[in-house]
Amino acid sequence: MIVVFLGPPGAGKGTQALRVSEKYGLPMVSTGDMLREAVAAGSALGAKVKSIMESGDLVDDETMAAVVEDRLGQPDCSDGVVLDGYPRTAPQAQTLDPLLARIDMGSVGLVIMLDVPEGEVVRRISGRRSCPGCGSNFHLTFQPPTTEGVCDQCGGDLIQRADDKEDVVRERLSVYRRMTEPLVDYYRQRGVLAEIEGSGTVEEIFSRVDAVMAEAMSS
Ligand code: AP5
Ligand code: MG
Repeated sequence: MIVVFLGPPGAGKGTQALRVSEKYGLPMVSTGDMLREAVAAGSALGAKVKSIMESGDLVDDETMAAVVEDRLGQPDCSDGVVLDGYPRTAPQAQTLDPLLARIDMGSVGLVIMLDVPEGEVVRRISGRRSCPGCGSNFHLTFQPPTTEGVCDQCGGDLIQRADDKEDVVRERLSVYRRMTEPLVDYYRQRGVLAEIEGSGTVEEIFSRVDAVMAEAMSS
């Protein structure tokens, strides 16, 4: 099953995608995490995308298609994946199914849209602390780590993401509305969209996500 998470920055895509990945044994493919890893590693891809990410803009579609095709072609993805942050433009959505067909992975089976009001996503992003080592996310108030500043999963130091500054968050929200929100209708028309009320605790939202996952897996 190919599952896609859609939603504004800070909606909880990474948080929920990780839980789905663990429960259903599907690898999580997060383009944001992959790009941040490339930046941290100082690779050619990282050098190309660093300033784009820091400004809150999107990396170009061709670069993203190459990154995603390379990752989905790896053997652990053959039974399906949870996509977090891809596709996020109309051209990315239009080329995803042909790309999946090319590597014999079928097509997108479920798109989970996390619907969260703008005030709430700003609150979530402003308190987020992330682990550059393993990609885990925490929140100073809503999901604090056991020891301040230390990742519960791997013991690494937690940081604030470079694109989580207030003016960059505003730009990311505007880019989302312009470039990504139209995909909600695109996937609704294809009959694979599940809109989830994204307010509430992580566990409450996961139980809603899990219900649509279970239904999609059984049909
Ligand atoms: P990306 O990393 O995908 O960022 P994003 O879409 O802006 O989303 P976030 O990661 O900020 O939020 P999230 O929805 O994952 O929320 P989270 O679970 O962390 O992309 C970054 C950049 O990379 C882009 O701007 C672009 O430049 C580039 N890029 C990536 N993919 C691309 C593509 N396909 N094309 C072009 N460019 C691309 O939760 C947020 C916080 O809230 C956390 O602190 C969490 O602990 C907390 N939280 C989560 N759920 C709850 C809850 N229910 N209650 C309270 N707090 C909660
Ligand atoms: Mg994320």
